Amino acid sequence: MHWITAAAVLTMIPAGLVMTQEGLARPVQDALFLFHKNLGTLLIPVILVRLAYRLTHRPPPLPETVPAWQRRAAAVSHVMLYVLLVVMPLSGFVRVRAGGYPIELLDRLGFGPWIGKTPKLADAAQALHATAAFLLIAVLAIHIGAALQHALIRRDGVWSRMWPGRG
Ligand code: HEM
Ligand code: HEM
Repeated sequence: MHWITAAAVLTMIPAGLVMTQEGLARPVQDALFLFHKNLGTLLIPVILVRLAYRLTHRPPPLPETVPAWQRRAAAVSHVMLYVLLVVMPLSGFVRVRAGGYPIELLDRLGFGPWIGKTPKLADAAQALHATAAFLLIAVLAIHIGAALQHALIRRDGVWSRMWPGRG
């Protein structure tokens, strides 16, 4: 679940950043929007399953060598990642639907829009999506840096908690 969401989020972020640039060729922009909206929507159930799994399964204790402040930092940043993993796709979904735009996959499957066209709600969701995106990028930079530090420098087994067999 970690690596499915990680791979999806690490492609969603550059797609979102590039597709909102001015002066992009229209076919490229359309393709990126199609990719971003539909993969992002598919991610909603994946993230909810991941969250449900996490809430019902405790991770094993961290190695004794991890200092208390780093345990707290890990706990806080993991909660932030989970919150952002829910806020990002939901705010994107509301931004698109309240703006009156299609989500092609759901439309093909015959789902209704669920949210009527509401420009003010679309604007609020757009602002939330953009703010949460930059927070997510910042937390991820710390997260990936910390993970690599455990894998390459400390070699204390934290990396292999998420990548079994690579202790
Ligand atoms: C190359 C990218 C990434 C690497 C190398 C990486 C590595 C890791 C590692 C080693 C852990 C285990 C930490 C532990 O056991 O305490 C972990 C946990 C976690 N990662 Fe990542 N990660 C990456 C990307 C992401 C992304 C993109 C997300 C989500 C946006 C994410 C969300 C999480 C969360 C929420 C946890 C906590 C799991 C738990 O509940 O214990 N990670 N990551
Ligand atoms: C984990 C999921 C997601 C991530 C990490 C993500 C990330 C991003 C990023 C980094 C941007 C560029 C910053 C901005 O201008 O807002 C963006 C823009 C955008 N995203 Fe997402 N997104 C996700 C899910 C979704 C979903 C599910 C939808 C719609 C169904 C969506 C629709 C949009 C739209 C329409 C924009 C352009 C906003 C504008 O009008 O300027 N996103 N996204």
